[in-house]
Amino acid sequence: MTRVLSGVVASSLFLVCASGALAQQPPAQQQPQAPPMTNLQVYPKDTPRPEIVTTMQGFVQALGVQASGGCGYCHEGQAPQFNFASDAKPTKIVARKMILMAREITAKLPEVTSKPAAEVARMRCATCHRGVAIPKLLPDVLTDTAAKSGVAAAIEQYRALRKQYYGAQSYDFSEPALVALGNQLSAANKPDDALAFLQLNTEFYPNSAPTYAAMGQAYTRKNDKDSAIKNLEKAVQLDPNNQQAKRQLEQLKSSK
Ligand code: HEC
Ligand code: HEC
Repeated sequence: MTRVLSGVVASSLFLVCASGALAQQPPAQQQPQAPPMTNLQVYPKDTPRPEIVTTMQGFVQALGVQASGGCGYCHEGQAPQFNFASDAKPTKIVARKMILMAREITAKLPEVTSKPAAEVARMRCATCHRGVAIPKLLPDVLTDTAAKSGVAAAIEQYRALRKQYYGAQSYDFSEPALVALGNQLSAANKPDDALAFLQLNTEFYPNSAPTYAAMGQAYTRKNDKDSAIKNLEKAVQLDPNNQQAKRQLEQLKSSK
């Protein structure tokens, strides 16, 4: 990004110098250095270069690839010697199809929503990507890792992602996110995985009644009534208005 921006600044400086030297210089030397664009297949071929570059900077931002190559995530070569016209990188081919896909979705929205075309939201890259190249939601990222490499690896991944992305729009690190994942795993009869993620949530949200209530659910699944009761009591203690936890607690105690 920085390199690109300084490239833009450098070429506008070049133009200023060139016009100052207009009287002495032969016309050939007034040409800016950027070569003409030769391989636009989706955007109109006569799109001004600065417009293309601005769009491209938007791609880098939307996919969050500043630290993984920037322009080089899709373009062949090394900064500042990119071969922008080349289609050698598969990511560029995908991106071109993504531009068309986003347009198709936007074009369908008026019919789907019965709204005038001018009023529907535009599908932008960031609408889906939110600053990541493979825009998976956090619960999917974690359950995929848990399935592949175990729940401990998924928990490490949560910590690393949280460190990297906290405060960005990429992943939901809010209190309910891991509660939802925990409940989902309990429902899928994976109470141990559920407990691992819920325990993790208490590190960041130590007073989270819904987290303890969800742990109560997970222990109930495991038929560990004592632990279920302990966690539901903690949930009710933290939030005396949690009627559901209260009811479950009464049920468990009466069935003991
Ligand atoms: C997510 C992938 C992606 C990233 C990142 C990306 N580009 Fe592109 N770029 C494309 C695609 C796709 C095209 C082709 C558009 C078309 O076919 O109309 C393109 C075309 C171009 C072109 C026109 C090349 C030609 O001669 O036809 C230029 C110039 C360009 N990009 C510059 C940049 C710059 C500068 C950056 C970094 C700020 C960048 N791109 C980042 C996907 C990307
Ligand atoms: C409707 C949602 C959606 C929109 C809009 C969208 N993308 Fe994607 N994009 C995805 C998904 C989902 C994937 C991941 C596919 C997969 O699992 O490999 C993806 C993958 C990609 C990849 C491949 C990344 C990699 O490392 O393999 C590129 C490049 C890409 N998108 C570029 C773009 C660009 C540029 C735009 C805007 C013009 C865009 N996308 C708009 C959903 C979207």
